[in-house]
Amino acid sequence: MTDVFGPSHKDVHEQVVFCADEQSGLRAIIAIHNTALGPALGGTRFYPYESEQAALADVLNLAKGMAYKNALAGLDLGGGKAVIIGDPARDKSEPLLRAYGRFVESLGGRYVTACDVGTFSEDMDLIARETRFVTGRTLAHGGAGDSSILTAYGVFQGMRASAERVFGAPTLRGRRVGVEGVGKVGHRLVELLREDGADVVICDVSERAIERVRRLHPEVDVVADARELTGADIDVFAPCALGGALDDETVSRLRARIVCGAANNQLAHAGVEKQLDERGILYAPDYVVNSGGVIQVSDELEGFDMERARAKAARIYDTTLKIFAMASEEGVPPAVAADRLAERRMSEVGRIRGIWLGR
Ligand SMILES: NC(=O)c1ccc[n+]([C@@H]2O[C@H](COP(=O)([O-])OP(=O)(O)OC[C@H]3O[C@@H](n4cnc5c(N)ncnc54)[C@H](O)[C@@H]3O)[C@@H](O)[C@H]2O)c1
Repeated sequence: MTDVFGPSHKDVHEQVVFCADEQSGLRAIIAIHNTALGPALGGTRFYPYESEQAALADVLNLAKGMAYKNALAGLDLGGGKAVIIGDPARDKSEPLLRAYGRFVESLGGRYVTACDVGTFSEDMDLIARETRFVTGRTLAHGGAGDSSILTAYGVFQGMRASAERVFGAPTLRGRRVGVEGVGKVGHRLVELLREDGADVVICDVSERAIERVRRLHPEVDVVADARELTGADIDVFAPCALGGALDDETVSRLRARIVCGAANNQLAHAGVEKQLDERGILYAPDYVVNSGGVIQVSDELEGFDMERARAKAARIYDTTLKIFAMASEEGVPPAVAADRLAERRMSEVGRIRGIWLGR
């Protein structure tokens, strides 16, 4: 049974809303982890969960993750997320998305939505016809468009900071970087790495994704799978496919000195961050370095400006360095330092709202 109010105080969610519209088939759950820093922003995942319990567990976990990510991205936004239960290929329709938009509107701005797995900018345009509280719309509708642009840019900044820490210079020039998954984010990361002068080796389960990279960069090496990639002679491992890329076995095999990639929830279970630390592998926490996407879409709330958003995403470099420094000072792995820093900002900046404004 999923525990909405616990088990620890960090897992308590402020608000969880179940939404249903029988005619359109909408079944959605919106979870707001906390609004200490502002309205809760996070994407809508459209996924065929096998049960309501599985959907609830996922949305709670994702909403909490967004609270930490938004806090460290320096945004005045809390953490939230939504899931729509269903197969997007079969169940997505205009009435369903618009019904969902009306539920988002009903929260009065406490939750602001965006794209996630199974939802796209065109879907956000439809949702926006029912609610003001939506980001990630198409450029044609004044939106931020494809968030993978600044996600890749932010990961690259995090990787430069990692290189500074390990090799003493903020560049990947002459280093060999293994990229697992060259989809929307991964293929853009390869571009940035090649521009910087890195050697790149990739793997992907999709032949099409590999071909797209190879067409532009025939010099990029390809290996069969993630197992071969992680066992290869690489300096940096960049997981950019699915979550859980770092488990006990992968960590014991890994020859890279740095792990820095876009995938969410890279650590397969608690404790992997310690194993990485013990093996002398620097882990740039996933939610810190992949926050470029949320930085991009949240800029829409001020009227989207790509250059302003890029400048904000560039700060991921400094944040990553700060986390590494804090990790050394406090004798903890960077993943623990990141959580502490996020919690500190939520608590210290969130607290100032208690100052009475006299109105
Ligand atoms: N798109 C964003 O703005 C964004 C923002 C933050 C985090 N992320 C995370 O980054 C990761 C990549 O996102 P994306 O938008 O590029 O997704 P995507 O679906 O476009 O790309 C993922 C790629 O990984 C490949 N892949 C899947 N399983 C694989 C495996 N076992 N081995 C090798 N390759 C495999 C897929 O074929 C695909 O090409 C995801 O974990 C996502 O949650 C994305």
